[in-house]
Amino acid sequence: MDQGALKKMAADAAVEYVKDGQIVGLGTGSTLRYVVAKLGERVKKGLRIRGVATSLETARLAREAGIPLLADDAEWGVDLALDGADQVDPRLNLIKGGGGALLKEKIVAAAAARFVVVVDESKRVTVLGGSFPLPVEVVPFGWRTLAKRLDRFDCRVAPRMNDGALFVSEAGHYILDLWFPKIDDPARLETELEKTPGVVCTGLFVGRADLAVVATQQGIVTLTRP
Ligand code: A5P
Repeated sequence: MDQGALKKMAADAAVEYVKDGQIVGLGTGSTLRYVVAKLGERVKKGLRIRGVATSLETARLAREAGIPLLADDAEWGVDLALDGADQVDPRLNLIKGGGGALLKEKIVAAAAARFVVVVDESKRVTVLGGSFPLPVEVVPFGWRTLAKRLDRFDCRVAPRMNDGALFVSEAGHYILDLWFPKIDDPARLETELEKTPGVVCTGLFVGRADLAVVATQQGIVTLTRP
């Protein structure tokens, strides 16, 4: 099976956790496209849910799939959030934000009673970092100075680009991709980075995922946070 088929398999399994009447957080990314499509099928068969979208792209896909959405400024009680990840470690700590939607994703994950991460097996790592950078969303004011200061975390800092210009998030921020050989203490790094003035949020999701639905060549594996 190729990666797309595995993502779809994970999505189909994860959507089974959604129950009638729930408010569902909808993450962002290629795996979430499959989640939204499958949820849309269930909605057409009578499932009553309302979604909270973590990006304009997901909102568009959800509307096309017939999933009613709550307004961004409503007070949501999110029962279950479903989202992908770029890396998942054995404690279900995550790196997210490859698609640049980390801020809304983190807000929705924090608002959710249960957070289920939906991935294919390529996302599982023993230690976060290495092959994937840690996205850090920063305000434009003073970003070059901030980028220089982040050197002290022993990482290489690369501003994210898009068509030759700085990538701008939906909230109007920039993203710095921090390349760490490995992240030994994700909880500490998340705290240290997020208390740095100018940093809006990081793609480290520590102790947030309750469950990971992982698609492997051998079938679905479900991991619970230890
Ligand atoms: C979006 O900002 C990210 O957090 C995605 O959830 C993550 O990059 C996983 O994306 P894929 O499902 O496309 O691999």
